[in-house]
Amino acid sequence: MRSAPNDVIAFHSGYPDRELLPERLVRAALTRASRGDAALFRPPAAGLPELQSWFAQELRSSTPLGINPPTPSDVIVLPGTQSGLSSVFRALVSGGQPLLMESPSYWGAILAAAQAGVRVVPVPSSPEGPDPEELQRAFRESGARVFYAQPNYANPSGAQWSARRAEEVLEVVRRNGAFLVEDDWAHDFGITSDPEPLASRDDSGHVVYLRSLTKSVSPAIRVGAVVARGPARERILAAQGAESMYVSGLLQAAALDVVTQPGWQTHLRGLRHQLQARRDLLATSLREHVPQAHLGLLPKGGLNLWVRLPDGTDVDQLARSCEAAGVLIAPGNEWFPAEPAGPFIRLNYAGPNPGAFREGTRLIGQALEQAGS
Ligand SMILES: Cc1ncc(COP(=O)(O)O)c(C=O)c1O
Repeated sequence: MRSAPNDVIAFHSGYPDRELLPERLVRAALTRASRGDAALFRPPAAGLPELQSWFAQELRSSTPLGINPPTPSDVIVLPGTQSGLSSVFRALVSGGQPLLMESPSYWGAILAAAQAGVRVVPVPSSPEGPDPEELQRAFRESGARVFYAQPNYANPSGAQWSARRAEEVLEVVRRNGAFLVEDDWAHDFGITSDPEPLASRDDSGHVVYLRSLTKSVSPAIRVGAVVARGPARERILAAQGAESMYVSGLLQAAALDVVTQPGWQTHLRGLRHQLQARRDLLATSLREHVPQAHLGLLPKGGLNLWVRLPDGTDVDQLARSCEAAGVLIAPGNEWFPAEPAGPFIRLNYAGPNPGAFREGTRLIGQALEQAGS
């Protein structure tokens, strides 16, 4: 991850700016946590029971009637979901075996799969999500038993699956006796919709659910969780134990404190409006200053715009020209597990200084013109 000097316009980062964090709640929570037992004791390997309960309750609140909700003991608290991805892939896919993954997909998941020694098989995804028939074909042809996906506000594309598509995908996963690894990284970043975790529609143990608080509570309180049932949960706990033993109780206590304050809900409501204003400002500026850019989707949540540029654009070169002009953008190539489907860039609208968004897009437009001339 790159940090940016102050005078640079930064669209490249995956994180929200400090002004979008619940700073007052975080500082108060850290003070309280430092005074309590959590500052000195080693917590259980699967996490503080109260935090396990909170994660389970979050899923339970969106579980329809007739589905058995997850219990606190299905939850394993993680030192960030990045390390959870590694543990889950290692626990559920043997070395050299295939893992299905939406394409494009989060580069950190692609990296975690490579480190776990598993073979990534891309499944093309659109703003509607993966096509169930293509997914079925990929399961059949590869023999894979695990599919990694982001049904809500995918990083990078921003896609959110409809309820119907979610049901169809879940049906394919069940039919193949497989696992869906659901990465709900942007659960707290709904803008014009609410996230609907697939995990809350499944009580047969086919969904392994990851939820992160890093970007919504604070990148300095790096806490997330995985929710899984039965033997899968035991295998993941063993893999996670081998990697990190347990998560700092101080950070767990602080995270729990933040998300159980009444001010947390108020913060999330305000955040929704701020993200909407930033998203719309960036999309409008882009339309004005980079008319060649194509936005396939105005995301209903998340932090990013996923922008397609004219065919033949060298996005790495463009990123270098933009940087020379004082704008940092993320070239899209690293979000593809195989050949990129086209020249894409990812622009984060949650970064610092939205007042500079217009100027930033003007400079991107200029760099693109120069590249084409
Ligand atoms: C899609 C996705 N999953 C997982 C992560 C990892 O987040 P963390 O380890 O902070 O929970 C990220 C971080 O950028 C992400 O974008």
